[in-house]
Amino acid sequence: MKFSNYMNEWLYGKDGYYATYKEIGKSGDFYTAVSASKFFGGSVAKHIISLVDDGFLKKDGVVCEIGAHHGYFLADMIEFIYTLRPELLKTLKFVIVERFENLREFQKNYFKESFGDAISLTHYRSLSELRCENAFFIANEIFDAFGCELYYKGKTARVDGHNIEFDVDDEWVSSKAQKYHKDRGEIAVGYEEFAKEMALSCDKFEFMSFDYGEMLARPDFSIRVYKKHEVIPLFDENIKRDELFGKSDITYDVTFEHVKDAYEEAGVKFIELKPQMVALIDMGILELLEMLKENVEDKIYKQELEKAKMLIMPNLLGERFKMIRFRKEL
Ligand SMILES: C[S@@+](CC[C@H](N)C(=O)[O-])C[C@H]1O[C@@H](n2cnc3c(N)ncnc32)[C@H](O)[C@@H]1O
Repeated sequence: MKFSNYMNEWLYGKDGYYATYKEIGKSGDFYTAVSASKFFGGSVAKHIISLVDDGFLKKDGVVCEIGAHHGYFLADMIEFIYTLRPELLKTLKFVIVERFENLREFQKNYFKESFGDAISLTHYRSLSELRCENAFFIANEIFDAFGCELYYKGKTARVDGHNIEFDVDDEWVSSKAQKYHKDRGEIAVGYEEFAKEMALSCDKFEFMSFDYGEMLARPDFSIRVYKKHEVIPLFDENIKRDELFGKSDITYDVTFEHVKDAYEEAGVKFIELKPQMVALIDMGILELLEMLKENVEDKIYKQELEKAKMLIMPNLLGERFKMIRFRKEL
């Protein structure tokens, strides 16, 4: 079978990693910025308010998170909007695009417990079900969770059992590899369709996404498995793929140039790519921390500051992660 099918089965199959409920964070297999600090969502909330103030996002526009897992990121945004501009909670329409029924249920319950009837939350299984005029789309770590093909010196991988053989000639994969100057590495499958679906779903929107990677492809394989915070390269000689399959996360570095091309082909304008650290500072994370300092005890401020540092310190999540931003306007 194609490697992309194997990876999709690993992550999204009936017994796949995301199809069965998984903790992310301390007790899970890996951290995301969402599990590190609420100030991640807080900074995005501040940005959403600035989009409303600039007139790009209407007061009754859609705020939509894609691939929300527990929904904690969107919930953090809502909590900060409540603090900074409470009246917007009555007018903004909150949406989650989540393909898994069990996660949709978890998110519904979590939002009910956290906000009661104070906000409107709608779920869709896929972006293709959504139609709206004006939106802000947000996603954290989804482009590294699309199935990919593996390419090595002209050949594309095929999976037999759990063995990987490079002996297939695949024109599409080879052309992408040439375009991104890779002689080996991962070629993501599905960015083009995803970008088209988003472009068709809404007339005017901004899309912001955070992921691990670089604009240009790295000249090597980055595909790896996370098991209880241990990182195992997929081509590690001692790896037991049969035991890890479906039970641990599998991911790779995002080639942002590929994401950018997919959106531009769909008629959406690329705005910028920058380190997460810079993006969060530009959106106002330091002002939010300053507000906290003025309003809570020193001990609590210091605790929150330590967590927020994970997001903005260069050697932690701040530099390795990037923010990419797009806009569609008619
Ligand atoms: C690494 S997890 C990140 C979860 C969450 N955003 C966070 O930061 O904790 C990747 C998520 O992306 C979702 N995902 C991957 N491809 C997707 C797609 N094409 N459409 C919607 N969600 C997708 C997966 O279902 C999964 O929830």
